[in-house]
Amino acid sequence: MRLTETADVWWKNAVVYCLDVETFFDTDGDGRGDLRGVSQRIDHLAELGVTCLWLMPFYPTPDRDDGYDITDFYGVDPRLGTHGDLVELITLAQDRGMRVIADLVVNHTSDQHPWFQSARASRESPYRDWYVWRDEPPPDADKGIVFPDQEQSLWQYDEEAGQYYLHRFYKHQPDLDITNPAVREEIMRVIGFWLRLGLSGFRVDAVPFLIDPAGSLDAADLPDPHDYLRDLRAFLSRRSGQAMLLGEVNLPYKETRRFFGDEDGDELTMSFDFIGMQRLYLSLARSDPAELVKALRERPDPPEEAQWGTFVRNHDELTLDKLSDEERQEVFDAFGPEEDMQLYGRGLRRRLPPMLGNDPDRLKLVYSLLFSLPGTPVLFYGEEIGMGENLAVEGRNAVRTPMQWTAEPNGGFSTADPNDLAVPVTEGEYGPEQVNVAAQRRDPDSLLSWIKQLALRYRECPELSWGKYTILESESPSVFAHRSDYEGGRVVAVHNFADQPAHVTLAVAGNGVGVRATDLLQDGTATVREDGVLELDLDPYGSRWLRITQLGDRYVL
Ligand code: GLC
Repeated sequence: MRLTETADVWWKNAVVYCLDVETFFDTDGDGRGDLRGVSQRIDHLAELGVTCLWLMPFYPTPDRDDGYDITDFYGVDPRLGTHGDLVELITLAQDRGMRVIADLVVNHTSDQHPWFQSARASRESPYRDWYVWRDEPPPDADKGIVFPDQEQSLWQYDEEAGQYYLHRFYKHQPDLDITNPAVREEIMRVIGFWLRLGLSGFRVDAVPFLIDPAGSLDAADLPDPHDYLRDLRAFLSRRSGQAMLLGEVNLPYKETRRFFGDEDGDELTMSFDFIGMQRLYLSLARSDPAELVKALRERPDPPEEAQWGTFVRNHDELTLDKLSDEERQEVFDAFGPEEDMQLYGRGLRRRLPPMLGNDPDRLKLVYSLLFSLPGTPVLFYGEEIGMGENLAVEGRNAVRTPMQWTAEPNGGFSTADPNDLAVPVTEGEYGPEQVNVAAQRRDPDSLLSWIKQLALRYRECPELSWGKYTILESESPSVFAHRSDYEGGRVVAVHNFADQPAHVTLAVAGNGVGVRATDLLQDGTATVREDGVLELDLDPYGSRWLRITQLGDRYVL
């Protein structure tokens, strides 16, 4: 084991868990989760194997975009708790070996932010040029709208200001002008503040928009926008050597690779693999891993200490924007055929279990992939128990319903009157009576038990996170197999995308003399033939992880 691998580059083999404080656990009975609630439930996360907790925005907010519209970058929304509660949570998490990161949403502020209020009130305001203004919107004002159901333009006229301002997202979220040195400095101050309070880094919201100087009148004369990301990273590393930046970059691979920076990786430490995620859904729809394989073959390697973030669901719509129209339609047909399940013409406002008809084998397959694909797995709260969405809740919030702890009223999330919950609980087949933590903790065959086991094995196999991976050829078109090698260790993972059993032969060693394949998830060992070929039977939607060892290698668990 190399020195760097031990703990410094901790994100490289982390288990990241994203939650919204508002919907996790309510301790004061007001119908809204709070920071104390997350603290009370920290051992659920520790037991699950989480090593990095990602808190969605907890800052003061008018809550028109679920907290992504912020009025004070240094504050904690009083409905969720206090700075004191946050420090307690970070301390408790650290005691369990867990780091805490938070959303850094500095592409824009809320229009209620005092900076914007001051900026719009007068051209003389010191905050006027913290935002991007124009007398006339540019001709391409309607290009690149993120929320096409609500917005028609990226530019909004403001009566009070007498000018148009830029907003990449909702019109109540004016974009900050990051070409302004004062804004850049303020963002660094914000980062410095939260690092002091104990955060270990940030999930950076909307990175390509953040660094894009578009809209700024002298954009053409500006230096490379990546210089700014490099500056941010350098500042972060000076302040805290162990801090990471996990970026939201949904672009084609080549462009996303640029956000890791040069060979030494001087920009983002991690970036979500949006392309791999979308291709995975296409593969699932087709019961054929070819599209996933194509994505992995195309995916550039990150710099040595950087990492891709693997995910199957997040808090937003399941975006399929990088698929062709026909491919997207295939995924819609398979996993979200009704119009109400679809959003913005590009995504699905659903969680995974309802998309897969709650088929336990198929769900286990997907989570086995999440943990064994090269990258760092990122879970969204509720995935560990197979929660469903509530389509009665508007827009993307359908997947942000309260965590289901028990079969009791409100899923044990809150003692409030159900009508007073900030977000209603899911009902029916995926409601708390059927899907909850308490029942699954006691059931060795539950999804929760499966995910705990995957997390543990993943942490035990540095090959999966640090290793070099090779996609293995097999004769079965429904099987995806890959091998990961690191410092003499070798792990092979095999996944069957079809509802039929499969038999595969895989070349896992030069020759098979003294070679063993130890199953890491189930009982039993698989046979490696004398020619180094592994013979394996897979159940429908089956998955296997095997450690390949030579006679004389140390005892394998
Ligand atoms: C990101 C977030 C999304 C939010 C948007 C605007 O895309 O993931 O939830 O609405 O940024 O901040």
